[in-house]
Amino acid sequence: MNPFFISTPIYYVNAKPHLGHAYTTIVADSVNRIHKLQNKPTFFLTGTDEHGDKIVEAAAKNNQTPEEYVDRISALFRETWPGLEIQPDRFIRTTDPKHKKCVQDILQKVYDNGDIYFGEYGGHYCFGCERFYTDKELKDGLCPDHLEKPKFIQEKNYFFRMKKYLEPLREHIQNNPDFIRPERYRNEVLGMLGEELSDLCISRPKTRLTWGIELPFDQDYVTYVWFDALINYVSALDWPDGDDFKNYWSGAHHLVAKDILKPHAVFWPTMLMSAGIPLYKSLRVHGYWTIRETKMSKSLGNVVEPMAMKEKYGLSAFRYFLLREMQFGLDASFSEEALVGRLNADLANDLGNLTNRVLAMTHKYFKGQVPEAVEPDSRDRETMDLGVECFGDYVRLFENFEFAKALSRLWVFVSHLNKYVDQSAPWALFKEKETVRLQTVMYVLLEGLRKIALHLWPVMPGASEQIMEQLGQPFDLQVADLGAETSHWQGLVPGTLVARKSNLFPRVDLDQGAEKDLKDSQQGEQAREPEVSFEDFQRLKLVTGRVVKADKVKGADKLYLLLVDIGEDRPRQIVAGLADFYSPQDLENRQVVVLANLAPKKIRGVKSRGMVLAVRHGREMALLKADPETLPGNKVS
Ligand code: ME8
Ligand code: MG
Repeated sequence: MNPFFISTPIYYVNAKPHLGHAYTTIVADSVNRIHKLQNKPTFFLTGTDEHGDKIVEAAAKNNQTPEEYVDRISALFRETWPGLEIQPDRFIRTTDPKHKKCVQDILQKVYDNGDIYFGEYGGHYCFGCERFYTDKELKDGLCPDHLEKPKFIQEKNYFFRMKKYLEPLREHIQNNPDFIRPERYRNEVLGMLGEELSDLCISRPKTRLTWGIELPFDQDYVTYVWFDALINYVSALDWPDGDDFKNYWSGAHHLVAKDILKPHAVFWPTMLMSAGIPLYKSLRVHGYWTIRETKMSKSLGNVVEPMAMKEKYGLSAFRYFLLREMQFGLDASFSEEALVGRLNADLANDLGNLTNRVLAMTHKYFKGQVPEAVEPDSRDRETMDLGVECFGDYVRLFENFEFAKALSRLWVFVSHLNKYVDQSAPWALFKEKETVRLQTVMYVLLEGLRKIALHLWPVMPGASEQIMEQLGQPFDLQVADLGAETSHWQGLVPGTLVARKSNLFPRVDLDQGAEKDLKDSQQGEQAREPEVSFEDFQRLKLVTGRVVKADKVKGADKLYLLLVDIGEDRPRQIVAGLADFYSPQDLENRQVVVLANLAPKKIRGVKSRGMVLAVRHGREMALLKADPETLPGNKVS
C-alpha cells in the first residue's frame, strides 16, 4: 500500500497561532483524512520551531527564560489543534532531545562527506527570516517579507557546499514535474537555480547566539535554525532506523506557504542529497491569506484568531470557508463577510436545506425509515451518474490539493439534488400514491446525502459524522471506503431510522450583535466560573410560564418575540433566539422556565423583559420545563 506522509512547517514559537498557521494545518489535516478514508497508511506531522535569535528575543520580552517561554507557546500550538478538529500523528519540537541528536548525526554525516567547510562571510541578515539575503533579493534595501532593514553581519562560520548539489537538484526538478507544485512555484525555483546561488552558512558563533544545537565538530558554534528546523521532517520519523521512517518517508509531502519556498525547495533537498537520504516526493506551496491586500502576519499585527472564528461561526463553516475560498497557490483575502456569505449560501441554503428537507420527507412519507429503491428510471440514473462523476472528480482534485475546485464540483451535485427534489416533487408522488416512484426518489436522495456527508469528512469531520448519524449510519473509519463509493448507490440499508431534522448549519447574520449578546447571556460564561452565594441565587426570580404566542422579530431570522404567561396580569414580552429550532406552533402553549427579573433590554428595537431558559446541546436546543408541568408563575428553587 502506498503510504502517505504530510507535514506542515514547524511554526516559530514567537507568537500564538493565527489564521495563517491554522490554514496550513487544516489543509494538512484534511488531505491526511482523504487518504485515511481510502485506507492508506498515513502520517501527519506538525510541531514547533524553537531555536534562534528571535525566540530568545521574544522570551526576554516576556520576562521568561527561553526554556519557559518555548514550553508555554509550544503548548499553545499543540492545544489549539484539537479544538479545530486537527489530528496530527506527531507533534515535534526542535528542543526534543531526540531531534537534537538527529540534527547532530546528520551534520556529522554531511561533515564526514566533506560537504562542510569553515570560512568567512558577510551578508544582510534578516532576523525575522533567520537568514542572509543577497543584495538582489532585497526590496529597496528591505527584507521582502518583514519589510525591515536587515543587519550587515560579517563573521567566521561553517558553510554547507550547497552549490555542489544545485545541478543535480535542477535535473531532479526537470525530471519530476510534481516535485514542486503548483507550477508557478516550480518555475520560481528553477529561476532561483538559474541565478548564482552561494553555499549555505549553517552555523552561528556562540558569542552571538547560544540558544541552538551545538555543532558536533565544533563546540564554539550552534546550528543555523533552518538547518536544525528542516531536519524535523526526518527526526520525527526516527531517521535512520525507525519504523516510521521506513514506512512513511517514501510517501512524503511537505506543505508550506510561499514565504518559505527557498529553504524547502533548495536548502532541504540539497541537504538530503548530501546526507544520502532520498528526496521527499512533493512540496506543495500555497499563497497568503491577506487582509485588505496585506499579508496577515504576526509581525504586522493584523492577525485573525482561528478560535474566535470558530466561536462566532462554527468550526465547519470556518474549515469549509478556508478550503473553498483559497485557490491553492494564490493569495486569498480573508473577511468575515465572505465567510458568512459562504456559510449562508453553500452550507445553510444548499446543504443544510437539502438535509432538512430530505429528513422531514422521510418522516412524513415513510415514518422516518429509509425506503427501498425499487425502480430507478432514467431521471434517477442521471442523478446517480452525476453524483458518481462529481465524487470521482472531488477525490482526484482534493488529492491534488485543488480544494476549491474539488468543493465546487461536490456542490454541483448538492445543487443538483436540490433541483431533483423539486423536479421529482415527492409531495405530489405521495398525494397520488405513487409509492414505488416515491420510494425510489427518496432512496436516491438519502443515499446521495450520505455520500456527500462522507466525502465532506476531510473538510468538516464533526458535521459530516453528525449527518451520517442523522441518516442512521454512524461513521466508522474502519468500514468507510471512498474508493468503493463510486461503484454503487446502496450504502444505506432500507428500514434504517433517520433523524427528524438536521439543523446543522443555521443561517448567520453578519451583524450578530444583539443575537450574540442574547446567546451569551443564555449560555452563561463558560470560561470563568465565579461562585455565587445562596442569597445571590435566591435573588433570581425563576418561574414557570406558558408561551401564549410566538412571532418572528422583523429583520432577525433567529429571534422570536414571545408572549409568556407567568401568572402576572398580562403576559410578559420576551425576545428569544429560538427561531432556528422551533416553529411558532411548536412553542405556543408550551411550558417554559423564565428568569423574570432580568434587567429589561432592547433587542433589535424590541423590548425584552426576561429570559426563557434553554439547553444548547451541539446544534440543537432544548427548552426547560417542570416535570410534571405546573401552572404558570410557580417559583423555581
Ligand atoms: O517559517 N497566509 O515559521 P512561521 C498563509 N519556523 N499561511 C501563513 C500565513 C498567511 N498570512 N502566515 C503564516 C517558519 N502562514 C519556520 C518554518 S519549517 C521546517 C520551519 C503559515 O511561524 C504558512 O504555512 O513563520 C507559513 O509557511 C508558515 O505559517 C510560517 O510559519
Ligand atoms: Mg514567518
